[in-house]
Order: sequence, then C-alpha cells, then structure tokens
Amino acid sequence: MLDFTPFYAKLATNKLHSWLQTLPAQLADWQKHALHGDFKQWQKVISNLPATDVSTIELSNAVQFGAAADISSGETERIRYLLQQLKPWRKGPFNIHGIEIDTEWRSDFKWDRVLPHISPLSGRTVLDVGCGSGYHLWRMRGAGAQFVVGIDPSQLFYSQFQAIKHFNPDPDVHLIPVGIDDMPAIAQFDTVFSMGVLYHRRSPIDFLQQLKQQLRPGGELILETLVVEGDEHHVLVPGERYAKMRNVWFIPSTLALCHWLSRLGFKNPKVVDLTMTSLAEQRATSWMENESLIDFLDPTDHSKTIEGYPAPLRAVITATV
Ligand SMILES: C[S@@+](CC[C@H](N)C(=O)[O-])C[C@H]1O[C@@H](n2cnc3c(N)ncnc32)[C@H](O)[C@@H]1O
Repeated sequence: MLDFTPFYAKLATNKLHSWLQTLPAQLADWQKHALHGDFKQWQKVISNLPATDVSTIELSNAVQFGAAADISSGETERIRYLLQQLKPWRKGPFNIHGIEIDTEWRSDFKWDRVLPHISPLSGRTVLDVGCGSGYHLWRMRGAGAQFVVGIDPSQLFYSQFQAIKHFNPDPDVHLIPVGIDDMPAIAQFDTVFSMGVLYHRRSPIDFLQQLKQQLRPGGELILETLVVEGDEHHVLVPGERYAKMRNVWFIPSTLALCHWLSRLGFKNPKVVDLTMTSLAEQRATSWMENESLIDFLDPTDHSKTIEGYPAPLRAVITATV
C-alpha cells in the first residue's frame, strides 16, 4: 500500500482540510481495484533507488537535484538504469546527480511562457490539474509557492514523480493520482493551473467550471491549451484523430475560450501567450523513443497536421474569479 499519510497530515492543518472527507477512501479503493498492470514493477524500481546525499537543489531555472560529484560512477549507472525502466519520459527535463533525463517535451519552454504573466506564487497554495509527471509542480515551488498539489490519473506519471521526489522529498510538493472528476469543490486554492488538458475533455465547459470550483474568491486560473485561429464562435472538433491523438475533442479560438470563461463568471480573461509548438519543444529522445511532433505533421507542410488540420498552436490564458 502506498502511504499518503504525510499528505493527509498536511491537509488536516491547512485550508484544504475538506478534501479529507473523500480522498482517503478514494485512494484506498484505487489501490484495491484500479492499479495498472505494470504498477508493481514501477514501484519496485522506485524502492530500488539508492538513498544519496543531494548537495544542491535547483528549482528556479531548471529541476536539478544533486551533482554528479555527490555519488560514485557505479551509483550513477545504477540510478540511470533504474530511471530508464520508467520510460517513456514525456515531461521534463530533470537532472538527477548529473543524469539528464531528456524528455520528449521541453516543459521548461512552456513554463517560461507562463511565469512572466501570472500573479506571483509566493506564499500561495497551488493546484495543477493534469500535471503529468510533475515537472511544473517543482517550478511552481521554485517560484515561491507555499504548498503545491498536482493531480493526474496516469500511474506511470505518478511513478515518475515519486522517482524524482525520492531525491528531494519536499513535504510541500505532492502529486495525487486522481482525476478532476474525483475532486470535491474545495474553493480554497489561490492559483489553479491546467495546462494541456482542456482539449482532452469531452465537456470543456464543465471542465472549466470544475477548475473554477477549486479557486477561492479572487484566485487565479492559468489555462494552457491548443487553440485555432477564428472568431468567438469558432471551435475545431477534429475527426477521429488530431496530430495522431485519438482523444482530442474541442480546440477553440482564443476568442471563443475567453467567451466561455466569461459566461462561467471568470473575470478579466486575458490571452498572454500564443505560440506554435516547435520541433525543438516536442521531439523524440533516448528517454522517449516513440513517435513525436515531426511524425504528427504533414511532411511537406509543417503548418498542417498529418490529417490536414492547423498544426498545434498553444495559448496561455489567465482569468480570476
Ligand atoms: C498533455 S498532458 C499535460 C501535462 C502537463 N500539464 C503539461 O502541460 O506538460 C495531459 C495530462 O492530463 C492528464 N489527465 C487526463 N485526464 C485527466 C483528468 N480527468 N483529470 C486530471 N488530469 C487528467 C493526463 O494523464 C496527462 O498527464
């Protein structure tokens, strides 16, 4: 059984305590009935990671725990081997004792587009919905957040997060392996992020409402998602696949998205960044050897996906409640 007691102890003494009414039963049930077939194997990898002396912790410019010189070359090889058992690594990069986990996504590019435009995170209690393996959780903490919680139902991402947290067991950074539908309306977070999730939702407006229900009055939403060009009534609902992904439902224009946010009662929705995904930001590496963006675009015209839709264009939108 995984031990979530340290997280529950934190909840008991902070403003998120109402979550304790539902979460422990959900996580107990999940562990009994819904574990992935490889989950035991991933947990074994984590239990084999050696304890090390971590000389440095860098969260402001990168996620880097420890230096190469802290450990022997034998330990380096052992840790590299174990971390590679958790492939594919999609979100990062992470540097652990000099081992560079070169992930498919340069998630730091996204963070650099987001950070200059948001209310300072110092002292804030923050939620990241669909946080992947938690790269941005660490950067949020590095930007001064007091307590950081990510939720993501992917058990591989959860295991990758545990592997990284092994080298920096910060008691105020947590990934909880549940989806947004499992969360009660807590209405206490100062900032809610959701990056790269909206287009995967079949009911995007309900999803935005769920995000709103996590925020305290005056709190800030930071939404990052795929968008298309067009007016406030323009939304792309692709066919079976978009950029080879099967689970893409709604790709609105930024004007439509701002309109949805206003209809839901969000204040001051602002588009603060608009960027085409580049082949430098999303690519195959030795830590993620499957297909990547280059395989998802029309080989003769990179402004289109392989299905003929506009190539991935991503917006960052902020709003308050
Ligand atoms: C494209 S990734 C984005 C990861 C990260 N936020 C980023 O921007 O790089 C989408 C994530 O949403 C997660 N996800 C899918 N359904 C979800 C749900 N119902 N609630 C929360 N997260 C969900 C997936 O597991 C996946 O990690």
